[in-house]
Amino acid sequence: MCGIIGYTGNDNAKEIIINSLSALEYRGYDSAGMSLFTDNGISTVKTQGRVSELRKKASVHFPENTFCGIGHTRWATHGKPSETNAHPHGTDNVMIVHNGIIENYKELKKEFDDSLFYSDTDTEVIAKILDKEYEETHDPIKSIINTHKRLKGSYALGIIFSDIPGTVFALRKDSPLLIGTGENGMFIASDISAFLKHTNKYIRLEDGDTAMITKDSVRIFDTDGNEKSVKHETAQRNADEIQKGGFSHFMLKEIFEEPDVMKDTFSSITKDFLPDFSETISDDSFFADIGTIHIVACGTALHAGLMGKYFIEKLAKTPVTTETAGEFRYSEPILRANDMAIIISQSGETADSLAALRMLNEKNIRTLSVVNTQGSTIAEESEKVIYTLAGREIAVASTKAFNVQCEVLFILALKIALVKNTLTSDETKNILHSFSTVFSNSIPSILKNTAPFEKAAKILSECNNAFFIGRGYDNYLGQEASLKLKEITYIHSEAYAASELKHGTISLIEDGTPVIAIATDKKFFEKMRSNIEEVKSRGAVIISVCCEDADIIKEISDCVITLPSEPSYCHPFSAATAIQLLAYYTALEMGRDIDKPRNLAKSVTVE
Ligand code: G6P
Repeated sequence: MCGIIGYTGNDNAKEIIINSLSALEYRGYDSAGMSLFTDNGISTVKTQGRVSELRKKASVHFPENTFCGIGHTRWATHGKPSETNAHPHGTDNVMIVHNGIIENYKELKKEFDDSLFYSDTDTEVIAKILDKEYEETHDPIKSIINTHKRLKGSYALGIIFSDIPGTVFALRKDSPLLIGTGENGMFIASDISAFLKHTNKYIRLEDGDTAMITKDSVRIFDTDGNEKSVKHETAQRNADEIQKGGFSHFMLKEIFEEPDVMKDTFSSITKDFLPDFSETISDDSFFADIGTIHIVACGTALHAGLMGKYFIEKLAKTPVTTETAGEFRYSEPILRANDMAIIISQSGETADSLAALRMLNEKNIRTLSVVNTQGSTIAEESEKVIYTLAGREIAVASTKAFNVQCEVLFILALKIALVKNTLTSDETKNILHSFSTVFSNSIPSILKNTAPFEKAAKILSECNNAFFIGRGYDNYLGQEASLKLKEITYIHSEAYAASELKHGTISLIEDGTPVIAIATDKKFFEKMRSNIEEVKSRGAVIISVCCEDADIIKEISDCVITLPSEPSYCHPFSAATAIQLLAYYTALEMGRDIDKPRNLAKSVTVE
């Protein structure tokens, strides 16, 4: 999704802003632009497409001695991707970059003559209002606050005024914005990765606050214009995580990191093979007397939530609903005082998940978030947080984060089971002991032999449609597998409970249609075989992802991806790695832009 960078300091602003925009590319975008102060005032360059194009344009357009400016990667919401709609937007007096959506932009535009607008964005009107306010008040802070009071929606803004060279202003409401404080200058950014190369010290801008930064000062004002004290924080992230480390794609690198990040996460929430969340949840009463658990998330995290439902219901015998956050927040969920909500999010900034969390907080439901990004808004606003230790995930398609989300939910299910006495300590220890082989043996052994994935990828890369079938948790994994395939290959695919395909969709099966059968739960092998026969007899080509002992599945499959022999609770996790590799190698075969698939954003900060 859109990315913001702003810089003011002693170094070359052109280079810093372009490099920061490159660091933001992973978020997903379709155009980019930047405005810098030059000897002749503010100058702007924009492009549709990649930052590499902007770099070429900027190198000839701007002089070398620039010291302050703002930049943006745009993920189109209002108005198609184009150079005109790319940010920054503005007037002769003010230029802005904007993340988020202005809901009342049509109404606000009515105050101005239509002919004054050159773009289709909801952003341009902010600049017009700000310009007018500044002309009236001659005070940048007042004009920003007055503008803020007129806007509805979510927004993070980076602003420069042509008559205040060397100063960058920022405003935040419901869209993340950080201020980086470096020795050679100051930054504003939607995401720490934009300035992490220069500094890991930052200040989090709070909702409604306006910031004014110069090369050696940061001042923050509340909505009444009162100056606030600033809280400095230090990021633990390592800039090396942004390197591919010899892998051809971040996605592959991140899949290969799964054994390590699962081990780290395991160590952080277990002790002597028993669940231990005491670092963040000191009192077991948090898990006591739970009525229903409501899991809320989006995308891949939602699929982890479905796995969580399976684990919690099976192990802790507690009812679970799993719902996509965008629906949950507008539905009228039946919530009881003793219910618990779990919000899952890799970024911790997904707009719908955050809104659902806020709704749950208002209703006094106990909230627990499972988040990968330290200090993110969802983590900050939840009653309790469990961090997944996946490290930085750069590829748009989420992989390692999914595995550790499932892992945390699995161990959480064991914790609730212990508190509810549906499992004994000894049983739990045994389960966790065998589970730990997934990261010490199973996933590493899958990663050693990628040949079966490459073979299956050849079949998939030649099709336009594919279907995934599975039963129980394999059905949930099928949904994630289908999403992965769609995201990075653009092959249309659908996932069905194996029992359901014949209630309509089987009409789409014809000669050569690939059906990927996920069969890792022994209890369903025979049923799965019957379902496979049903589609095979109508011409489907069967790719199966199954366990070593699933002979009755293997013998009717055209292509087999075999998971290592392992204790049953390991299967969902090693199968997750397998379906990610399947999507990866198919996209590779098709020559897709794997880490930056079209139209997608890593962190969806608008609803
Ligand atoms: C986007 C990403 C997905 C991700 C989803 C939820 O759609 O492309 O990979 O699963 O958002 O993101 P979150 O950060 O909340 O897990």
